[in-house]
Amino acid sequence: MKILITGYKGMLGSDLVNILKNEDQHELILTDVEELDITNIEELREMFKKEKPEMIINVAAYTDVDGCETNRELAYNVNSIGPKNLAIVSNEIGAKLLHISTDYVFSGNNTIPYIEEDKTDPQSYYGLTKLQAEEFIKETMKNYFIIRTAWLYGINGKNFVKTMLNLAKDNLEISVVNDQRGSPTFTCDLASAICELIKTDKYGIYHVTNANDCTWYDFAKNIFELANIDVKVKAIATEKYPTPAKRPKYSVLSHEKWNNSGFKPLRNYKDALNDYIKLELINK
Ligand SMILES: NC(=O)c1ccc[n+]([C@@H]2O[C@H](COP(=O)([O-])OP(=O)(O)OC[C@H]3O[C@@H](n4cnc5c(N)ncnc54)[C@H](OP(=O)(O)O)[C@@H]3O)[C@@H](O)[C@H]2O)c1
Repeated sequence: MKILITGYKGMLGSDLVNILKNEDQHELILTDVEELDITNIEELREMFKKEKPEMIINVAAYTDVDGCETNRELAYNVNSIGPKNLAIVSNEIGAKLLHISTDYVFSGNNTIPYIEEDKTDPQSYYGLTKLQAEEFIKETMKNYFIIRTAWLYGINGKNFVKTMLNLAKDNLEISVVNDQRGSPTFTCDLASAICELIKTDKYGIYHVTNANDCTWYDFAKNIFELANIDVKVKAIATEKYPTPAKRPKYSVLSHEKWNNSGFKPLRNYKDALNDYIKLELINK
């Protein structure tokens, strides 16, 4: 399949490219903002007409959740208008589109895992722009896949695991919030799931994360245990760690639809984290 990827230099994008290359059955057109700015529809139209990809995978986004609160125009353009442009132009050339969305489209007031049809109610501007993208895509085309995922970490990007490992270098005690619950997800595992999905015509929206859930505090404890680092982790409430953007208290995503559609369930987040930590420590 001829696949065009946007935002390929990012955390998810770089692992996706590695996995697609390993499959050795696709022709890849790799683009990031320097080669193809998704906010510019004419640029997209020109590239799509020239290259004629069959599949577009959009992993480009403005992912600084707090930054989105203040840089609203940029957030709207990249996270809402960019995917809308991609949907319009994909439709024009008859290509399929896979887009990545987020658990932050939900309010976080649930106590059981969110299913795809649950009411959305983003609490942050980032979440709102990502939800608008979903709406634009659904209105514009039929042959789309939207994956909502959460709490990503991977080798090529800033993430919570790296932040914790760095903090442990200079601190004997680290305070971490213990009242936000989600499912940490390794970008390599998500990339493999994307590769499975695009081989099908099972269009629609899916929740895809590693299995099981925890709070950021639990996650930090897991990281230090697996990395064999002796540091005290103190549980704190979100009020003690104020951020510009509000985060959902509970954003665990149900995998029922993914599993019932015949796709391989993703492994437990702790097993994935173990593999990631080994890679991080080797790279040090
Ligand atoms: N990270 C998470 O925890 C998380 C959780 C849930 C969902 N997601 C979603 O997962 C996807 C991948 O996230 P990620 O963490 O891998 O993102 P990332 O590392 O921030 O990568 C995004 C890439 O998109 C590029 N980009 C920015 N503006 C662009 C534009 N106008 N045109 C083309 N490319 C542009 C970025 O370039 P620059 O770096 O030069 O700006 C970067 O290379 C995103 O849709 C995100 O919303 C992420």
